[in-house]
Amino acid sequence: MACWHGVTRIVLPRLTDGVVTLRPWRTADADALVIACQDPEVPRWTAVPSPYRRPDALRFLAVALAEAERGSMAALAAVDGGGRLLGSFSVMEIDRERATGEVGYWLARGARGRGIATRALELLCAWTRRELGLATLELLAHRDNQPSIRVARRAGFTPTGELRSIAKDVPSGRAYRVFASRTPSAA
Ligand SMILES: CC(C)(COP(=O)(O)OP(=O)(O)OC[C@H]1O[C@@H](n2cnc3c(N)ncnc32)[C@H](O)[C@@H]1OP(=O)(O)O)[C@@H](O)C(=O)NCCC(=O)NCCS
Repeated sequence: MACWHGVTRIVLPRLTDGVVTLRPWRTADADALVIACQDPEVPRWTAVPSPYRRPDALRFLAVALAEAERGSMAALAAVDGGGRLLGSFSVMEIDRERATGEVGYWLARGARGRGIATRALELLCAWTRRELGLATLELLAHRDNQPSIRVARRAGFTPTGELRSIAKDVPSGRAYRVFASRTPSAA
């Protein structure tokens, strides 16, 4: 984190547990991002648009940099030991005064079923607490998205009982279950 003319910009980290690495997005990720986002499961459960083309990827990469400069989002690419893109893990809606943020993620189809999402989410949450001082992290998982709900629970998130809508979900109402993970002092 660095303060520049009163704006607390986020210095995006490189984090690894030896299996998965989270690092800042690069322009060179655009093609892999487009390929991964062709899997209908990604737009089905997230705010990722569909269809997803190269301009969408370039827009996301630009927004990721701009929002880190503004201190409002930390978006990271998950890669394997060979540098191949595994997925996307972000903390959004960062509010330093309330010490809150919301995590969001997806894995490329071929990276699922191996515990990568849980590992990446744990890395992201630990860094977020340590470096950004966020005490309460929220996660919105569609009530039918069992894989994501399992990941949330494995990474220490518990249901708050609240249901919420996201912009894409308005026709079907409040379909997203809210999960929260709090540091002990914020519980
Ligand atoms: C949600 C999503 C990221 C979950 O991915 P995932 O591969 O199921 O999650 P993980 O990487 O943690 O893998 C866990 C699975 O791998 C298995 N696994 C294998 N080795 C493992 C290990 N060492 N540790 C943990 N799990 C392991 C587990 O059995 C588990 O399977 P289960 O959920 O059937 O019990 C993925 O389904 C996805 O990208 N979906 C589309 C987008 C989306 O829904 N995003 C979330 C929006 S809230």
